[in-house]
Amino acid sequence: MNKNKLDSFVDEVDKVWCFPETAMEVLALIDSQDVNITEVVDMLVRDQRLVGRVLQIANSPFYGLSGAIGSIKEACIIIGLNSLRRIVLAAGLAGAMADTRQSRKDEYSAWLHAIHVAEMSRLIAKKANLNEDTAFTIGLLHDIGEALIVLVSPDVRDEVDARMEEAGCSLLEAEEMVLGFNHGELGEKIAGRWRLPSDVIRAIAVHHTPTQDDLSSYVGVIYLANNLCRKLINYGEKNLGNDAMSEEIISALCIKEDEVANLHVEAKESLEKILESFVSMGMNSGHDR
Ligand SMILES: [Fe+2]
Ligand SMILES: [Fe+2]
Repeated sequence: MNKNKLDSFVDEVDKVWCFPETAMEVLALIDSQDVNITEVVDMLVRDQRLVGRVLQIANSPFYGLSGAIGSIKEACIIIGLNSLRRIVLAAGLAGAMADTRQSRKDEYSAWLHAIHVAEMSRLIAKKANLNEDTAFTIGLLHDIGEALIVLVSPDVRDEVDARMEEAGCSLLEAEEMVLGFNHGELGEKIAGRWRLPSDVIRAIAVHHTPTQDDLSSYVGVIYLANNLCRKLINYGEKNLGNDAMSEEIISALCIKEDEVANLHVEAKESLEKILESFVSMGMNSGHDR
């Protein structure tokens, strides 16, 4: 990694994107004492895009209430302020995906991938007796670095794709050649600045390159979830990852073979519900990228 290039890129990120103001105020309000739900709702509704994303996550199968939460007030009451805090944080950070100059279709493709990996990570964490909430949050944020690269340098993505094609290398190698760092390293830097927990930061940093020490941690969970989702949806991306590594993670997490098969079925059902919620909110899923 070229540290100077990474640091100057982060300066560029600061110039064009900041954490949504409303989300920041809502987080501060939830953290303050004597908070009441009406105040939180009044503040949240100032940013309708944020409201949309919060409702999407609240309606995801994670909370077992798909399609049931129609208002932000209901969301606050049903999922509770602690969960709402994590959702607002994730929705605010992931808002970077929406701020790119990409078409609406691409925007939701990136966002849909994030939700899908989040849900798959949660299902894996459940089977591995890890914290489902943490896994869901990491899944949502794992590609935040990639979203910020597109935001700051929209043309870089084409350059990276071309380099992958020419050199026959992986996405990370191509990013390193073009930018001097990869999207995991950028995500790590951004997540660090937001003082996210260390296991969240580590999982974002190395989600494509786990070491043997990572196999039974959230890094392993995210790596596996990312690969399963890509295979399931067939995004058409190259370098789906090392299957041998996925096998090692499955055994390190003590997940049985038949449970892996179930993961595909459960995640497919979840994805269908998520797609329905996109449609019911009048959003384009764009999942055919
Ligand atoms: Fe990634
Ligand atoms: Fe991903």
